[in-house]
Amino acid sequence: MVKYSLSWLYFLALFLALSWESSGACRPHERRVKSAEFFSPEFVLKPGSVANKFYHNIDFPRGHIGIKSFDAEVVDEFGVSVPLHETYLHHWVVMRYYLRVGAEDTGLNRDLNKNMSDFVPVRNSGPCPALGQYFGLGSETRKTPTHVPDPYAIEAGSPDEIPPGYEERWLLNVHAIDTRGAVDRLGCTECRCNLYNVTEDEHGRPLKPDYEGGLLCCYDQTQCKVNEGFALSSRKLYLKYTVKWVDWDKSVLPVNIYIFDITDTWKKSEGSKRRHVCQIEYEVKACESSGGSANACIDVKKKTFIMPKGGYLIYGVAHQHSGGVGSALYGKDGRVICSSMPSYGKGKEAGNEAGYIVGMSTCYPHPGSLKISDGETLVLESNYSSSQRHTGVMGLFYILVADEVPRQRSYLKALCENSVWLTVLLRLLERWYLKTAGCHCRCQLSTEASKVRWIDDV
Ligand SMILES: *[C@@H]1O[C@H](CO)[C@@H](O)[C@H](O)[C@H]1NC(C)=O
Ligand SMILES: *[C@@H]1O[C@H](CO)[C@@H](O)[C@H](O)[C@H]1NC(C)=O
Ligand SMILES: *[C@@H]1O[C@H](CO)[C@@H](O)[C@H](O)[C@H]1NC(C)=O
Repeated sequence: MVKYSLSWLYFLALFLALSWESSGACRPHERRVKSAEFFSPEFVLKPGSVANKFYHNIDFPRGHIGIKSFDAEVVDEFGVSVPLHETYLHHWVVMRYYLRVGAEDTGLNRDLNKNMSDFVPVRNSGPCPALGQYFGLGSETRKTPTHVPDPYAIEAGSPDEIPPGYEERWLLNVHAIDTRGAVDRLGCTECRCNLYNVTEDEHGRPLKPDYEGGLLCCYDQTQCKVNEGFALSSRKLYLKYTVKWVDWDKSVLPVNIYIFDITDTWKKSEGSKRRHVCQIEYEVKACESSGGSANACIDVKKKTFIMPKGGYLIYGVAHQHSGGVGSALYGKDGRVICSSMPSYGKGKEAGNEAGYIVGMSTCYPHPGSLKISDGETLVLESNYSSSQRHTGVMGLFYILVADEVPRQRSYLKALCENSVWLTVLLRLLERWYLKTAGCHCRCQLSTEASKVRWIDDV
């Protein structure tokens, strides 16, 4: 009987703790989310021309913040959305870095005479040296959700992290191709070298004879072939980006960003000795389909990775180019961690351009329900239609992973696992709890010998 009443006290204390968490510190972030719209510096494009610009120290919310979303699109000087068949947005990428206070900011243009320690990139947690960005998308940018669900956010500006004498800044890379009047629109967007009349890369190094297309052929200020007599004036364009954030406090839980690349040459068999070399782009050869149906022509690429440190999946999305038919990340035993499918436009207007990927589906598992283990072997899969050839395509997967489950949920889990006595009461609490915390989980009393079991993802 004494034990029973102690349990009651214990229960009451935790009940109060839970109620307090849900009414106070854990209130939804929606009410205090801030939002700001920014514009990149202008870039000018004429029919067939390419802009690949790097802007350092871009406008960005300052202070210790939790970023909730980052959305972007190309607009003209009147702020009107520009459709992809006019300006193809190959990609935009946003990187975080620290700059020594007082040092000249040259962004990624490293001057070898300068002190290299002035510029410190802050990379995501993924394995690719060439893909250090925090955010980035391409043609799918208008219809791909990027929000990070509560209570999570991407942490930035933490005074504990910024080295003394440095300040945090952000860098933007925009790669856009004007395909108005192009002889071969898809060819220009896939950077076919012959259409650009390019045989050397940006730095004057000759390209390999078998390199038919990709970023090496559509660098800044290159020119894709346009129809003769096609005359349209050049125009000023901007990347408009909208950032949503909350001020950081202890109710916000951080997520880590991982980006995986299907072209990573790392091999599991060679272990950690081998470096991750990410090619970023690859080529899809046309299938030899004489009799077969076009559906059978799918190029499937797979790549194995090790997740050094696990956690809970909060968000996932793939990046593919035109021709992409889906991508997925699988865990050990082949369970699907996230599957991300492209949607193609059907019309002419911005956001619905026929033939272009205008959005990628995303994954938002119930926070805490999908766990990746420490050292788990992951398999990335990227599928493209090979009914025609494609050059310079991509197969990236971007995931957000949290160390912690939402606090209310971990309280409940601890309660469940530690207490036999409280199970019945927990059952009563369950309905209320599921409503307030959106916790798709429950505490189950097993019939054998007074054992309670915690169940994830009901
Ligand atoms: C770069 O600057 C730091 C701090 O001012 C200094 O300690 C370091 O010696 C410098 N390195 C070079 C190569 O000048
Ligand atoms: C292609 O480039 C070569 C040399 O770089 C030049 O001589 C030739 O005129 C160019 N052709 C076109 C169609 O621009
Ligand atoms: C990729 O294609 C293979 C073979 O057709 C299929 O089994 C797999 O489910 C596809 N994956 C995705 C993510 O669509």
